[in-house]
Amino acid sequence: MAVVSRPRVALTQRYTPATEARARELFEVTDNPGDTPYDADGLRMLLATHDGVLCTVTDRLTREVLAVTPRRARVLANCGVGVNHIDREAAREFGLIVTNTPDVLTDDTADLAIALMLMTMRRLGEAERLLRSGTWTGLRPTFHLGQRLTGKRLGIIGYGRIGRAVAQRAHHGFGMSVQYWSPRAGADDGGLAERATSVEALLGSSDVVSLHCPATPDTRHLLHADRIARMVPWGVLINTARGDVVDEGALAEALHAGVIAGAGLDVYEREPALHPRLVTAPNTVLLPHLGSATTETRDAMGLKAVENLRAALSGEAPPDRVA
Ligand code: DGY
Repeated sequence: MAVVSRPRVALTQRYTPATEARARELFEVTDNPGDTPYDADGLRMLLATHDGVLCTVTDRLTREVLAVTPRRARVLANCGVGVNHIDREAAREFGLIVTNTPDVLTDDTADLAIALMLMTMRRLGEAERLLRSGTWTGLRPTFHLGQRLTGKRLGIIGYGRIGRAVAQRAHHGFGMSVQYWSPRAGADDGGLAERATSVEALLGSSDVVSLHCPATPDTRHLLHADRIARMVPWGVLINTARGDVVDEGALAEALHAGVIAGAGLDVYEREPALHPRLVTAPNTVLLPHLGSATTETRDAMGLKAVENLRAALSGEAPPDRVA
């Protein structure tokens, strides 16, 4: 009897136990027990020797990497919704299918954006550092005053699934009025938010600005020094989208100069490196890319990525194809 060999799939990092177990049920798996991201040569080796690769945001799948020959891989299943680390044009050219994991991370990422709003408006990062330093002398009526979040005006840039989920939380949970800017009008949010006429108009009339657009050549440094200067001086900037959307150096300088009141960031231009001036900037809450980091969501993302691999490697249309 002929033995039917199973597809060979490489996992570029450790994924959740549920994800890895499901992948092992379906494929011959090469895992990455050391959990260290592959460099370009390592990624080329995976593409040359596997039918599919389960990858994530730390894997720089550039044209030079994808161009490896001979190439065995047919599918790149990204565990994450953002695919700016994959050259999709090159993937299309080389006949590689690319998939992502939309929907399942919407709630957790929106929750984290709200957490950053509260932390930054109420200066909670600073407060916790102060308490742990042993210098707290007890409650005083004027001690460590922040800004109220409830009832303020929120401006959302990028009004897709996550932007709308943030709008709902902000409006229904905190009574905030919401405006958004997006190149496309008419997003289906039941009339909750109004569309700003321009990015500049939104920046100049929002107490909190939250970024939810994808990283593309068009959105690179969308918030540059001049636009940051359009924000109101008591305004805070929240970024749970991608670091490239903000000119990090310009933001750091604006925070040091008091051009805006604070920033809550989960993503950075050169992860895992941090801009040194951001680290020392006042009222800046810095998180290590945790938007979708709950067990529930990482299981759902991993299982979705594995299902995309299964479908594509069996000749079916993968549910979440993006190239
Ligand atoms: C995403 O889904 O894009 C998150 O940033 C995790 O990679």
